[in-house]
Amino acid sequence: MKIAVIGSGYVGLVAAACFAELGHKVVCVDTDKDKINVLNSGGSLIHEDYLPELLARHRGRDLIFTTSFDEALRESLVIIIAVGTPPAATGEADLSYVESVTRMIARSLNEYKLIVEKSTVPVYTNAWIERSMILNGCHRHNFDVASNPEFLCEGTAVTDFLYPDRIVVGAGGERAEKLLREMYAPLIDGSYAQRPGAVPQPDSSKRTPQYIETSAQSAELIKHASNAFLAMKISFVNAVANICEAVGADIEDVGRGVGSDTRIGMRFLRAGIGYGGSCFPKDVAAFRAVAKECGCPFDLLHQVDKINQDQRQRFIRKVRLALWTLKNKRLAVLGLAFKGGTDDVRESPAIEIIQNLLKEGSKIIAFDPAALKNAKEILGDNIDYASDPYSAAKGADALLILTEWKEFATLDLPRLRDLLNYPIVLDGRNLYRPEVMAEAMLNYYSVGRSPGEVLLPKPFQTKTTE
Ligand code: UGA
Repeated sequence: MKIAVIGSGYVGLVAAACFAELGHKVVCVDTDKDKINVLNSGGSLIHEDYLPELLARHRGRDLIFTTSFDEALRESLVIIIAVGTPPAATGEADLSYVESVTRMIARSLNEYKLIVEKSTVPVYTNAWIERSMILNGCHRHNFDVASNPEFLCEGTAVTDFLYPDRIVVGAGGERAEKLLREMYAPLIDGSYAQRPGAVPQPDSSKRTPQYIETSAQSAELIKHASNAFLAMKISFVNAVANICEAVGADIEDVGRGVGSDTRIGMRFLRAGIGYGGSCFPKDVAAFRAVAKECGCPFDLLHQVDKINQDQRQRFIRKVRLALWTLKNKRLAVLGLAFKGGTDDVRESPAIEIIQNLLKEGSKIIAFDPAALKNAKEILGDNIDYASDPYSAAKGADALLILTEWKEFATLDLPRLRDLLNYPIVLDGRNLYRPEVMAEAMLNYYSVGRSPGEVLLPKPFQTKTTE
């Protein structure tokens, strides 16, 4: 099947590479010439497992990158819209890119096309696309519009796409439904996983996904409601973590106890400095705006956002508690990305915390395994950058862990202690057990657990007491 994917961001690029992997002929279109040049010359733009392999396998054969809309649209049967829907000042999603792509599709419509909306959009966007196509002179029989939200997580986007829990399509018409089933056939019947050279199936994934056909409105709501629910789970566990701190309980134990009820589930119950990224903050605000607009205010989502914001401020208060004053303190920061496994720093809690600490006069030296380049574009020369965790820690007054990278959970603690000016670790992601840190003679502050103040700062200790 010939597919055009409009937009080469996270969703567009991953979808384009994965549809080529499923055996379709894909053209990925973007107006950004620089991006298209990078993609055509062998780059992959984003840090995603298996993406470089898929691009190398299909680029120039079943996967073409171009800036030429008209040609790509004319030659494809299916057109996937995967452009950005950034937040407007009101919290609503800005749909101007979706609208201008719709106009371009309308202009180049030469025969029947299925338009698939994959960007995260508010309910009724599908209906607006359809209306706009008609207003721009297209005949209703010449196109269908379907909503097909994407549930991929950054860092595991390729495996999420190829081994999904569910595929949701809101097509509202037999012809469109049939085409969508064809597009996803190797995933629906599980045959993709059996192919030689297939991207390996994660242990936790299902053999075949649930294939859910709904109305367009339901599909659009499923996406917003899913992200809002996951964000709510995180804010809920963070609110409980704060109570744990007040009463001397341990959020890791409480989370395990609560999450082992299968009705609740363990995932997305990790306490920390709150959620970030290009999806949750934006989608919670957009869903709230949608709810208000249709006369059903969803105040719970205001609280979800507020708890998330407060969580970052609470962490900064902990840094003060550990270090007394922050002016001229040298702080080593591990993690700049909004979560582990990605180079994305959009709405990263780490960046916001660093910006607050800079305002208080702290000096920051940071390390991240993948996000240094992107972070530099925001933080510039206001902080120093280290090439590994240990060079960041050397001579620092405390170490702050702000992103849940796996490699930060296995640091050489005695080495760290020797390198730090004061033996203080503030962990915004709960990567360590307090007793392990105590054994390593590190003062340990984490989230939802009592601070592990086990010893006086290093300058007050003699080596013989260690
Ligand atoms: C999220 C959703 O998980 C995907 O299902 C969805 O498709 C995607 O948004 C999207 O709308 O495109 P993503 O933003 O990549 O995916 O990241 P998550 O893994 O969901 O993490 C979001 C944030 O929550 C991160 O800052 C992470 O550190 C934080 N988090 C996550 C917690 O603080 N605690 C947890 O238990 C889980």
